[in-house]
Amino acid sequence: MAENLSVLVTGGAGYIGSHAVLALLDSGHRPVVIDNLVTGFRWAVPDNATFYEGDIANSQMITRIIENERIDAVMHFAGSVVVPESVENPLKYYHNNTAKTRSLIESLVANEVRHMIFSSTAATYGIPETSPVREDMPTRPINPYGTSKLMTEMMLRDVAAAHDFNYCALRYFNVAGADPKARSGQSTVGATHLLKIAVEAALGKRGSVSVFGTDYATEDGTGVRDYIHVADLAAAHVIALEALVANPKTSHTLNCGYGHGYSVMQVLDAVDRVTNHKLVRNLEGRRAGDPDALISDNRAIVDRFGWQPKYDDLDVIVEHALAWERQLGERQTQ
Ligand code: UFG
Repeated sequence: MAENLSVLVTGGAGYIGSHAVLALLDSGHRPVVIDNLVTGFRWAVPDNATFYEGDIANSQMITRIIENERIDAVMHFAGSVVVPESVENPLKYYHNNTAKTRSLIESLVANEVRHMIFSSTAATYGIPETSPVREDMPTRPINPYGTSKLMTEMMLRDVAAAHDFNYCALRYFNVAGADPKARSGQSTVGATHLLKIAVEAALGKRGSVSVFGTDYATEDGTGVRDYIHVADLAAAHVIALEALVANPKTSHTLNCGYGHGYSVMQVLDAVDRVTNHKLVRNLEGRRAGDPDALISDNRAIVDRFGWQPKYDDLDVIVEHALAWERQLGERQTQ
């Protein structure tokens, strides 16, 4: 197995990127982070990872880092991730996610960095006709966020065909939880994700949790999602990295999820169970653009990479998210 690869991690001070940095360190690789700290936190990058504050579209800086750090591969997390914001300000998403990634890929090709793992999303599918959804099913994003990521997938496909370059686009489902050793977690202020909101409410940081829609075509009427522990997702990135280096002619586009889902009510029940306390639930109308159910078919990543999730347990995801949320106030004032 390839060891000690130098990996440029863009957005490594953010939620998922910081967990990938930990997974790289734990696997004997050398992460080098670049983050502009617009949404990331400097303290989220461990001391034993090299850090550069800067922008991925700064091609001079990227070139300098590639040369100085002898970069072998890139894990690309940097970008904007708020779906409703992408509807209000699409050009921000096409700039931050698509145009800046084009610039980054250009820097990689020019400097002969031959491997990239890309943070893609289940939002590339839009509202799938069937669930679980497979990678070869139609991609019809329903918001600029999903389109901005799909456009990057297309650039990667074309660049891999034209140059000595391979990639793995990982389509994330609902990422949740925190590092099992509480070294990192979801720290975004004003996050809109269900489990983050639920653990904030459980710790008294909010009074209640809104349940958006109770009339979906699901068992209890609330939306069903495939929640994946961020540490399992980070581990998938390391496996993808090693696969790209081992087989440099092969690229991949793979779902990252557990292949089964939980409803909003089941997630809130899990939080109640773990805390032994009942959250106040406000039943509200549907949120625009939410599908009934979004579940991955994950057979491709399991078959191809032998990916074996360790934390496929909703209560464990909730426990880790809670443990992180408890110590977050302290860290954010640093
Ligand atoms: N929900 C609530 N109350 C809340 C927040 C969410 O009931 O306060 C519900 C939503 O309606 C949905 C489920 O909880 O049914 C999950 O919602 P999230 O906002 O946590 O996540 P989404 O499924 O909307 O979004 C995720 C990723 C996005 C990605 C999208 C589509 O976070 O980046 O899936 O793939 F674009």
